Amino acid sequence: MKEEKITKIAFLLMVAQISLAVEFETFAAFSNHKQGKSRIMKGHSFIIVSYLCFTEGVLAQETDGNVTKFGSQLIAATYAKFIESAGGRMVPIFINSTAKEIEKLFYSINGAIYPGGHRLLHHTNYTRVGKQILELAMKAYDKGDIFPIWGECLGLELLSMLVAGRDLRVGQLDHEFFSEVDAKNVSLKLILPRNYKTTSLWKFAPRHVVKFLQNNNAAYNNHRKAITLQNYGKYRRLNAFFRIVSTSKDRHGVEFISTMEGKRYPVYLFHWHPAKSQFEWRRDLDINHSLADVLSGQYFANFLIQKGELGKRFYNSSLLSEEEMASLIYNYKPTAVQDYLPFIQAYFF
Ligand SMILES: *[C@@H]1O[C@H](CO)[C@@H](O)[C@H](O)[C@H]1NC(C)=O
Ligand SMILES: *[C@@H]1O[C@H](CO)[C@@H](O)[C@H](O)[C@H]1NC(C)=O
Ligand SMILES: *[C@@H]1O[C@H](CO)[C@@H](O)[C@H](O)[C@H]1NC(C)=O
Ligand SMILES: *[C@@H]1O[C@H](CO)[C@@H](O)[C@H](O)[C@H]1NC(C)=O
Ligand SMILES: *[C@@H]1O[C@H](CO)[C@@H](O)[C@H](O)[C@H]1NC(C)=O
Ligand SMILES: *[C@@H]1O[C@H](CO)[C@@H](O)[C@H](O)[C@H]1NC(C)=O
Repeated sequence: MKEEKITKIAFLLMVAQISLAVEFETFAAFSNHKQGKSRIMKGHSFIIVSYLCFTEGVLAQETDGNVTKFGSQLIAATYAKFIESAGGRMVPIFINSTAKEIEKLFYSINGAIYPGGHRLLHHTNYTRVGKQILELAMKAYDKGDIFPIWGECLGLELLSMLVAGRDLRVGQLDHEFFSEVDAKNVSLKLILPRNYKTTSLWKFAPRHVVKFLQNNNAAYNNHRKAITLQNYGKYRRLNAFFRIVSTSKDRHGVEFISTMEGKRYPVYLFHWHPAKSQFEWRRDLDINHSLADVLSGQYFANFLIQKGELGKRFYNSSLLSEEEMASLIYNYKPTAVQDYLPFIQAYFF
């Protein structure tokens, strides 16, 4: 109940900030909501104060090929920008950390992003650390705390394998679980389930965002593996944990799951990338930078940061210790990588 209320507060505010120019209609509808006005006022101070304190962890990945010269771990700078665009601060989660170090870090961050990437999942530290953070987040939730987990592309693949209890030594080469799709470098429409308004991700989404993503090839995909509806139905642990938030059709019309969310736990999985339109400018990729694309991406950043604010630990991170300050991404410089990777900038460690 409390979560619902705060979610509403945050989205009233978001609608006020983002959509006013675009869809005044939506804003009017929201503010006519019972008690809408006082919620906006209350929400305002809540948001301003809390945004200053927020920190979100992002898992690093091992480097390979010709970027190893920059460092042994990397994170695309997009994720830092995505978090900062919604008022948060980013902390890199080093995948060479021990279980003890991860547990300590877990209590000073408010959520975790599992980025996309091309590395195989077998035996990597991304997999090891990702598994530990999921377990910590679920345990925290069972004790009444909220720690959102956000998986994109490779992140979706890892988290869905973990939940379904698949053999991680096979990694994403698990051909029973994943199907081949033709979804490299392509922006696709989102197909929403009939009851989409009951999902956490769409419940308070501005109407223009929902309509836009449904009717335009706007969701940027860059993967060859996907979970089909048939496989979702087949794996009991997967469909007990996640509900389908959207599907998409690849270049040949093959339908796959593009977005899922936890039924109980705050885990959000995207096989597409909601931050590309705002931040990625490599010219040879099928990314559209129209205002509508950007506004849609911004909705998801606000959604994530607002979820993190619901956690109890949030108030713990309002004044960061020296040690925590040293862990922020501000201590690193991004490197230009457009010649090597499908990003403009990345952080190396
Ligand atoms: C990166 O390495 C590959 C070979 O692995 C090479 O073909 C390519 O030209 C290199 N790219 C750059 C920008 O150095
Ligand atoms: C993986 O993590 C362990 C620490 O648990 C570390 O010793 C090792 O160097 C890490 N490997 C890579 C490639 O980061
Ligand atoms: C990505 O897709 C666009 C649009 O279809 C195409 O022009 C471009 O060549 C593709 N780039 C790569 C790297 O595949
Ligand atoms: C980009 O998106 C805009 C707005 O939806 C659309 O009008 C335009 O055709 C798109 N451009 C490309 C190249 O897909
Ligand atoms: C807040 O921080 C204290 C001291 O570091 C720690 O003992 C406690 O578990 C933290 N609370 C949460 C909810 O993370
Ligand atoms: C993990 O990697 C980071 C970045 O390269 C490095 O600063 C740190 O010392 C490493 N930690 C361990 C335990 O090796």
